[in-house]
Amino acid sequence: MTNSKSKVVLITGASSGIGEALALALAKRGDHVVLVARSLGRLEVIAERVREARGIATVLPADLSKPGAAQAVFDEVMRRGLSLDVLVNNAGLGHFGAFHEEPAAHLSEQLFVNVVALTQLSHLFVPHLLTRRGIVLNIASTIAFQPAPYMSVYGATKAFVLSLSEALWAEYRGSGLRVVALCPGPVETPFIDAAGADLRSSRIFKRPSTVSQVVSAAVAALDGYGPTRIVGTMNWIMAQGARFAPRAFTARLSGWLLGGSRARRTSSTGSKA
Ligand SMILES: NC(=O)c1ccc[n+]([C@@H]2O[C@H](COP(=O)([O-])OP(=O)(O)OC[C@H]3O[C@@H](n4cnc5c(N)ncnc54)[C@H](OP(=O)(O)O)[C@@H]3O)[C@@H](O)[C@H]2O)c1
Repeated sequence: MTNSKSKVVLITGASSGIGEALALALAKRGDHVVLVARSLGRLEVIAERVREARGIATVLPADLSKPGAAQAVFDEVMRRGLSLDVLVNNAGLGHFGAFHEEPAAHLSEQLFVNVVALTQLSHLFVPHLLTRRGIVLNIASTIAFQPAPYMSVYGATKAFVLSLSEALWAEYRGSGLRVVALCPGPVETPFIDAAGADLRSSRIFKRPSTVSQVVSAAVAALDGYGPTRIVGTMNWIMAQGARFAPRAFTARLSGWLLGGSRARRTSSTGSKA
């Protein structure tokens, strides 16, 4: 992406955290951002800030945990005649806790938003993006590189996002369309508290990245090459380490890093983290 021509960029999960900050950063480049999330009031406030920053904003409220939501977003984009250059699949949520204690609704919400909606939106928009030499930017996570005890379903959804993105990057290489996965480590956003109080006390969350570090990496990913961009040098080293260590070791280390107070509680009652 260059500054010479403004782009039309659809961002899911644009009502807070990384999505909000990325929308404002792209607005400063003069881009037209299409803001998607459930919270209409928040989206309208952010749209106003985008316009103040010289960008153009369109608000499209949608609940991506509902079947048919991706199709409805696509239909609305087409109805408004918006010619998308970039799709940013950023909306996502995670829950922290023992797998068997998770309410079933939490599991399906993570699967729908993080996996199903992301896949459906990509599938719907790729034919159009191919004609625009466009980009799909999927927000994965460094959790994608290893299993994630206590965030097992969330980790599995992000492993899916990473695998899908890298496969599509290779599939469309040379076509003009680029698919890229951005992998932040822990980031200080509302995501952390929404995931559950224990996550903040886990060892992995001692030094979270700032949102602006993630946005800089996202902009670099849009302007760059390659299928994957990991945010931060330490996160990059840990992701490489996970590739070479034995799977059992990696799973147990990941459980120790994520476990926090929950792991300490379970180990004090005799079970292993
Ligand atoms: N924070 C971290 O530590 C971290 C680390 C690595 C990767 N990530 C990933 O980064 C992405 C952005 O997360 P964030 O940290 O910026 O968290 P956040 O501030 O909680 O933002 C999540 C966004 O997703 C939207 N969303 C959630 N459920 C939705 C639904 N059913 N339908 C439509 N939109 C929905 C939220 O909007 P509404 O509530 O208004 O719908 C919000 O805009 C996620 O994919 C997350 O997995 C985060």
